[in-house]
Amino acid sequence: MSGGSFSRVGVVGLGTMGAGIAEVLARGGVRVVGVEVDAGALERGRGHLEGSTGRAVKRGRLTEDARREILGRVALSTSFADLGDCDLVIEAVPERLELKRRVFAELDRVCRDDAVLATNTSSLSVTDIAVTTGRPTKIVGVHFFNPAPVMRLVEVIRTVLTDPGAVERVAGLVKDLGKTPVTIGDRAGFVANRLLFGYLNQAAGMLESGHATRDDIDTAMKAGAGLPMGPFTLMDLIGLDTCLEVLEAIYAESRDRRHAPSPLLRELVTAGLLGRKTGRGFYSYD
Ligand code: CAA
Repeated sequence: MSGGSFSRVGVVGLGTMGAGIAEVLARGGVRVVGVEVDAGALERGRGHLEGSTGRAVKRGRLTEDARREILGRVALSTSFADLGDCDLVIEAVPERLELKRRVFAELDRVCRDDAVLATNTSSLSVTDIAVTTGRPTKIVGVHFFNPAPVMRLVEVIRTVLTDPGAVERVAGLVKDLGKTPVTIGDRAGFVANRLLFGYLNQAAGMLESGHATRDDIDTAMKAGAGLPMGPFTLMDLIGLDTCLEVLEAIYAESRDRRHAPSPLLRELVTAGLLGRKTGRGFYSYD
């Protein structure tokens, strides 16, 4: 496996999603440049990569030699200038439009003119990001799912400005990485979140109304609908702040009450109970 028409891929932001994407690329034989904002964040990113590949070794899914090779393909840096040789850069920084616009302005400055720039946004408009760059035809969305090393789907988002060739190349890379691409237009929630989050939000509403307990709702959807996780376990995995952002973006576009964020979800986010990453959300994690 290799990156097809992309030989060197940058990843900006090495949180849960960015580190997962960097791991997927490196496992696929692609050379990766991972960039974070400062040394502390870079070390946390390194920790994600080492932890995830270390777990795979423990489970007998990866040899120690293969792990070393994978980690050896990832160069880590705090300097955007190191992305100058990349032919694709995937941005995975927090979901704030102003921050993403700043990152894309910087990428536009340091990256080669023919480089494709991609955002892993799950709730913002790819078009809004594209129009602030000097290369809107080379801006695409590549939406991975959490956990990125496991989930097969990657949504490839085209705007009305995107060059079809750039979309094809990115979809080709996704296939080379052993994932399944679907190519779709730039609408809030794309396909999977647009359908999934109405359901997750209704589960929160059902809990709040006292219709059923958290555990019974989770059990019903696991044992009755064949899902790998119930809605509350899944929201805790995704992060309740991300759930709220995605719902707000979809609601702003759809005005469908199913997407109006549940007050309970909003309350948990305000309280800083964001799910697994903070140790408590709908469930507690020790
Ligand atoms: N990183 C890497 N690998 C992981 C992992 C992680 N964070 N979590 C689990 N895995 C791997 C395990 O190592 C294991 O691999 P092997 O079979 O090769 O040993 C495999 O996944 C199964 O893991 P477990 O046995 O520990 O647990 P499980 O069977 O319950 O699976 C799960 C865990 C894959 C997360 C599964 O429960 C699942 O698919 N849940 C649904 C996840 C989902 O719907 N994600 C989409 C969220 S929406 C989103 O992400 C979009 C957005 O924009 C917000």
